[in-house]
Amino acid sequence: MQDKMLEQAMANPTNLGEMPDADAVGTVGSADCGDMVRLWLKYRDEDGRRVIDKASFQSFGCQTAIAVASVATEMIRGKTREEVMAMSAQDLSAPLGALPPMKIHCGQMVEGALKAALQGGSAPGNGEASAASPIQVAPSLADALREAGKTTGKLRIVLEPPSSTAP
Ligand code: FES
Repeated sequence: MQDKMLEQAMANPTNLGEMPDADAVGTVGSADCGDMVRLWLKYRDEDGRRVIDKASFQSFGCQTAIAVASVATEMIRGKTREEVMAMSAQDLSAPLGALPPMKIHCGQMVEGALKAALQGGSAPGNGEASAASPIQVAPSLADALREAGKTTGKLRIVLEPPSSTAP
């Protein structure tokens, strides 16, 4: 059952993509595996509480990080900042079952990006960079990856030109 959920979350992740009207964004990169997760949050007021209305993510990472981000961004909807801050990487990936030891850091990357956003990571254009992120928020994930590559020397980004549709 949980294997099926993992497969499904990998093959068809939910909440994938940038959120232009986000209230906060958090980014975390791993110098070890070279992967990166960025997560956006939008809040709403509900019965006098500020809760997460929606969340989305982008990941230049392994399939496991994508699967965890997919289920985590669903799981946190309707929760307050404090409720989500109390959740561990294990909690956030619980629907997928226990992750193999070599994949535990994938869940921790998602947790890190989420907590960076919760701790005041601002959406691009809102002023401040994500305070908790080891990598400064850049206008796009590709820019952030490029910056990470400069810092760690472990990433090589090759951007392909868009294919022309002109006749
Ligand atoms: Fe690095 Fe999964 S291997 S995030």
